[in-house]
Amino acid sequence: MVGVKTKILAIESSCDETSAAVLDGRVVLSNAIATQTVHEKYGGVVPELAGRAHQSNIVPVVDLALREADTTLQELGAIAVTQGPGLMGSLHVGVSFAKSISMALGIPLIAVNHMRAHIMAHFIGATEDSAMPALPMLCLTVSGGHTQLVLVDESFHMSVIGSTIDDAAGEAFDKAAKVMGLPYPGGPEVDRLAETGDASKFQFAKPKRNGLNYSFSGLKTSLLYFLRDEIKKDPLFIESQKPHICASYRKAIVDYLLLVMGDAIAQHNVKSIALAGGVSANRELRRKFIALGEAHQMESHIPPFEYCTDNAAMIGIAGLFQWRNGQIVGLDITPQPALKIE
Ligand code: KG4
Ligand code: ZN
Repeated sequence: MVGVKTKILAIESSCDETSAAVLDGRVVLSNAIATQTVHEKYGGVVPELAGRAHQSNIVPVVDLALREADTTLQELGAIAVTQGPGLMGSLHVGVSFAKSISMALGIPLIAVNHMRAHIMAHFIGATEDSAMPALPMLCLTVSGGHTQLVLVDESFHMSVIGSTIDDAAGEAFDKAAKVMGLPYPGGPEVDRLAETGDASKFQFAKPKRNGLNYSFSGLKTSLLYFLRDEIKKDPLFIESQKPHICASYRKAIVDYLLLVMGDAIAQHNVKSIALAGGVSANRELRRKFIALGEAHQMESHIPPFEYCTDNAAMIGIAGLFQWRNGQIVGLDITPQPALKIE
């Protein structure tokens, strides 16, 4: 393979993270991420501002990723980019940038589905020959925009066998954090506070079972009513009980996520289970997920923290497998904000 260019540059700009990574085969050489802080004061991502921030971040982030990987543009064999799902104005920046690089260098362009990429993050290796998760694999993808149970078969075909009918798990965390006056994004903050709280102190409405689908709106409403009633009795209730509220609420979400995942394991013949997406950084979820794998005597895979939230390394690994399969796209592709995994 002397002379064959194996390095891939990957770009992720679907939401509020501008990220670029360089991979050599399955090995990540760099994974640079610029997190946009402009949204903090609005308590949520403002699409217009996200697009602008990507526009100013993209070149410095790519430059940083190349420098950290000690790689020049001329050494690249392909470029991979998130085509969707995500925010139109955000995706546009990455897709346009990637097309220009592809055209200027004359290298293949690979269009990656962001949700597939979260799952493919499990196939990043310390070396090209590092072990990979056993297939078929069942992956619970939990992020700010999605909650999905995805089956990955031996040929990497993915099918969604369950998903949320309303809020995503990350939203359930973020909205709870907002009503408690915690900084944005609230998920990590709820998780941090919960570590010192008593999870058995408060009970919230158990979400209704609906096959392998999820629904978080009832749980969120249950928390809202609970806080409203308690604040009437004691205006400082949130202040004095914060860790316990966070711990109890976190437990409700995590137990529910894994209860339905347990049903999915029972119904499908899988060899391994995995977690993906930003919420897989949640400590309680990580602990109980490992216990679920042990209970079913099966491999359980959790990505390292840096590959849980949005990052370009996962786009690179997904792009690599597509590249090796000959899945190259033309320079006429457009961003697909509602791109499906299947
Ligand atoms: O995958 P991601 O980075 O972006 C999306 O594609 O949505 O996920 C972000 C979500 C946010 O809702 C954030 O609050 C949540 O993941 N999150 C967490 C934790 N870290 C990030 N939720 C609970 N506990 C955490 N430790
Ligand atoms: Zn994501």
